[in-house]
Amino acid sequence: MREKSGWTAHVGFTHPSSLSAEKGTERPSPGALWTRVTVRGRTCHSSRGPISGAVSVWQWPGSGYVSIVSDPNHLLILTHREAAALLRAIEAGEPTTSASLDLGLSTVDLEVSPSGAVIGGSAIGILALKKIAKDDRKCFEIVDGEPVPISVFSETTNWVRTLCPTSGAPTTLVAGFPMHRVKGTDPIADTKQKIRALGRARGRVLDTATGLGYTAIELAKAAIQVVTVELDPAAIDIARRNPWSRGLFERPNIRIVTGDVFEAVDEFADSHFDAVLHDPPTLALAGELYSGEFYRKLHRVLRHGGKLFHYIGDPDSAVGASTTRGVMRRLGDAGFREIKRQPRAFGVSAIA
Ligand SMILES: C[S@@+](CC[C@H](N)C(=O)[O-])C[C@H]1O[C@@H](n2cnc3c(N)ncnc32)[C@H](O)[C@@H]1O
Repeated sequence: MREKSGWTAHVGFTHPSSLSAEKGTERPSPGALWTRVTVRGRTCHSSRGPISGAVSVWQWPGSGYVSIVSDPNHLLILTHREAAALLRAIEAGEPTTSASLDLGLSTVDLEVSPSGAVIGGSAIGILALKKIAKDDRKCFEIVDGEPVPISVFSETTNWVRTLCPTSGAPTTLVAGFPMHRVKGTDPIADTKQKIRALGRARGRVLDTATGLGYTAIELAKAAIQVVTVELDPAAIDIARRNPWSRGLFERPNIRIVTGDVFEAVDEFADSHFDAVLHDPPTLALAGELYSGEFYRKLHRVLRHGGKLFHYIGDPDSAVGASTTRGVMRRLGDAGFREIKRQPRAFGVSAIA
């Protein structure tokens, strides 16, 4: 028996004790990824096909339902780069080759043969590897030897969101727009520039737009608490599948709030935060997050003397330059002072 509600699918079993998977304690969050699990020799199926691999399990109190969420630490991911390297190893007739299955965080030795490679106990054929090698805009999860793009259509925002490889950590494409700078840099270097422009934030920090969680993770290294807000549950779904986003779910001082930050910020008391990192999507996707009304809200929740960094975009582009001028004017009108351009971080900083 199976049902789908919002972003989370639930698989019902006759009795939870039939599970051979270890029981977890964490309630699966919206957008959790489904894969295959063996329940006392029986294979269960999800909305995305058979489910397998390491999982966390949540029993819904008082119901016959058990939710199984694959363990994101055990996803097997290939990009065009690894697929091309595997194809070269096959071509060269090598019996094994090393490759990364977690987007460059670690490497493993894989068996290769003239017909393909063995990944997670399943063979992935040459045609599938060629398909991955041709697509440099997607990361592929390997499920039972088949490549499945890490990409979702969000019913909340109507945006397609795709995990996209770069030379370093992946970015996401949202409605075709990359959510981090990738030209001449990479998403982690981009994130560090934003944090540097904000300055060391040790107390309570608001991160207005979670995305892949890179800014939240970096802020959490020095802050007491980071509240990070994300409008789109699909963003959290993609982050859960991204090995580079693990800290978002593992660091105890990060609180993820799902909702529109324009409204979510109203729940915080005056002067609640010591710093705000505002990293919205482009103006074309999220105009209200560049409005005077929103800046007044940010000013209210920032303590006197607290710092804001606002990412805007390339200050040397015509759009970036005019957006920066408008942002600086509206920040001043909202009560911010010492409003400074931060060209290296593609944004501006200001003091409340
Ligand atoms: C540029 S990305 C943020 C990148 C992120 N800081 C990181 O380090 O990966 C912008 C994010 O803002 C989210 N977003 C858009 N409108 C929003 C809103 N009104 N409230 C909260 N999040 C929003 C988008 O879904 C997207 O994930």
